[in-house]
Amino acid sequence: MTTEAMEKQTSQVDVMELRVRHVKWEAEGVHSLTFVHPEGADLPEWEPGAHLEIVLPSGLVRQYSLCGDPYDRCRYKVAVLREPNGRGGSAEIHDTVMTGRLLKVRGPRNRFELGYAGKYVLIAGGIGITPILSMARELGDRKAWHLYYGGRSLESMALKDELSVLGAEHVTLVPQDTRGILDLEAIFADVDDDTAVYCCGPEGLLGAVLAQAEAAGRSAQVHFERFGAAPNAPEPEVSESVESFEVELRRTGCTVSVSPDQTVLEAIRAVVPDMPSSCEEGFCGTCETRVLLGQVEHRDQILSAAEREANESMFVCVSRAKSPRIVLDL
Ligand code: FES
Repeated sequence: MTTEAMEKQTSQVDVMELRVRHVKWEAEGVHSLTFVHPEGADLPEWEPGAHLEIVLPSGLVRQYSLCGDPYDRCRYKVAVLREPNGRGGSAEIHDTVMTGRLLKVRGPRNRFELGYAGKYVLIAGGIGITPILSMARELGDRKAWHLYYGGRSLESMALKDELSVLGAEHVTLVPQDTRGILDLEAIFADVDDDTAVYCCGPEGLLGAVLAQAEAAGRSAQVHFERFGAAPNAPEPEVSESVESFEVELRRTGCTVSVSPDQTVLEAIRAVVPDMPSSCEEGFCGTCETRVLLGQVEHRDQILSAAEREANESMFVCVSRAKSPRIVLDL
């Protein structure tokens, strides 16, 4: 990410307090939440693929893709699948009376931007439909596109009403119990040089899409958003850390020492208790922090080799310093 983009993003991630206007049952195991500004003010703009970081009543921070209308500045909508084997965020949302609550919300942030192409193929699995729906809306009648949406059953597939408005000629629903799984070979047969593919869903689907894209020689045209760490994530840099190091928090005006058995995030929280985090494993992006000075040992699973080289940001839940001192824009 460029410095300019980081500055833009930093300015976009101020915390807002938004009210949950209503909660709606969308499908089996899926609730949507609609947020509004408590005083009716316009909400910050966003683009398809963007997500919100929501601080739940328990203090857990979770990221959810925006799935409403980007041109509607009055409300944000996210949809949340209850994950029985998850880390507790979705269960809290499903089990707590959320309507009327004021919640802290950061964002919108976007790590899944819709780029320019002549044609688009959109592939969604399960709750992965959320960012894909907003992309489909954006493409509308202006572009050639088709969305393939797979799910366990029709009853489990959320946001079908919104999809039906987009036109049957653009959308193919593939419930597994009646139609089997997505035919990726056939889907990629229609991907030509001018087509961009955007895919969001569970790891099994993403792996299958990547394998098919590679077989078709189209992997460079595929863009993913994952729910967790990628199996082929960049290797962490782990060899050059100094034993302990100092982190200056320039805006906070203090310096903390990070011992070998402590993360930078833990040290920061001694002076900035509400420093946001979510996965704390280096894959969600919540704790991204701009680096002003010093060399970082990048251990995240997000930055490309070029972004690591640029050394403009770090994920403080896992990454450390190579130099005795680093300065962060915090
Ligand atoms: S908290 Fe998820 S990347 Fe740091």
